Amino acid sequence: MPHTPASPRFSRRAGRIKISATKLMPMLAAEVGGCVSLGQGVPSFATPDFVVDAVCAALRHDPAAGKYSLQPGLPDLRRAVAGLLAHEKGLHADPVGEILIAVGAMEALLAAMLVLVDRGDEVIVPAPSYPSHVEQILLAEGTPVFARLRPDFSLDPEAVARAVTEKTRAIIVSSPHNPTGAVFAEPDLRAVADIAIRHDLTVICDDTYDSLSYDAPAFSLAALPELRERLVAVGSFSKRFALTGWRVGHAFAPRPIMDQMLKIHDCATICAPMPGQIAALAALTGPQDVFTGFARTLARRRDLACRRLDALAGHLDYIRPAGAFYVMARYHEDIPPMDMAVRLIREAGVITIPGDAFGPGGEQSLRLSFGAAETELNEAFDRLEEFFGRERGETF
Ligand SMILES: Cc1ncc(COP(=O)(O)O)c(C=O)c1O
Repeated sequence: MPHTPASPRFSRRAGRIKISATKLMPMLAAEVGGCVSLGQGVPSFATPDFVVDAVCAALRHDPAAGKYSLQPGLPDLRRAVAGLLAHEKGLHADPVGEILIAVGAMEALLAAMLVLVDRGDEVIVPAPSYPSHVEQILLAEGTPVFARLRPDFSLDPEAVARAVTEKTRAIIVSSPHNPTGAVFAEPDLRAVADIAIRHDLTVICDDTYDSLSYDAPAFSLAALPELRERLVAVGSFSKRFALTGWRVGHAFAPRPIMDQMLKIHDCATICAPMPGQIAALAALTGPQDVFTGFARTLARRRDLACRRLDALAGHLDYIRPAGAFYVMARYHEDIPPMDMAVRLIREAGVITIPGDAFGPGGEQSLRLSFGAAETELNEAFDRLEEFFGRERGETF
């Protein structure tokens, strides 16, 4: 009998999820070459010198710097994060037992999802949404239930209320918002908090972009004491401190939830990387002017992106983003967003992310990031003007 190798069997869990388009488009662009990016959500800034110096000094002089930290994270960093949450949100957390230092906000969110969601449980996701929220719910074998944002991308508590069923376990809210750049209004957030309390839901508050709100400070659900016992509040060092590659994030959860999350964290990573934690501690406890400077620069890039989009009126419509570094641009051609994004890579040399990768509300749209340096943004918009001009036989 000829030997037929057994085909490998994969879990249902892995079969339910996919790699998000935010990661796929740069891979496609790498094959084409010469592209400029309005794609992935990375602020362009280099790690500040004082953070690099702190990490190098620790690695040179402290043998512990290259070893595991305590499993929930460096005690000094957990204390500093608790201080930040108390100062900015009035959320008073015990750094021992209620704060986790994770491998980015991503790992903290996944730990929360795996703790809160069982097979068949539902999680409400305002949409369009950050794709990984959805993939994480699916990985936990739960069901994402979309609650559409209003057409102006504001949070719609009525849509959230309509999405609640007896299977709903949690709602995930992120403001400033990826992919729309919306900053949700306090009354809408409070109305969603009331829904969570009324239906006994956990609120997962993803505050990855909390410091990047350009017109007024963003209100966070983490600031509501009445949610404290049903809250997982996740933060990140990636965007505010431009430390995307150091992979450090944090989470607050009340002890019963945190005790469970720590088991997942232990299974997945043991601890966040020590050099990353040292960088995060230096960033959080060092001079903040460099980071507020990053936010001011991103606000200027927001204005630049809006000016350039205004010049493309007739080709692209958009709603002015108030935070994060994203804008959803709606095009007029009747083709699917992936086809449009692929055309832009091949014909214009510009990376964008297909809007429908962000779920309902992203149809006929592209997500543009304005995290890149101004020269790159201008180059990308020049290329878009040329592309859309060619399309319509116009010149700009
Ligand atoms: C809404 C949102 N949450 C979480 C993350 C992941 O952040 P981190 O780099 O801290 O894992 C991102 C990254 O783009 C994001 O946009």
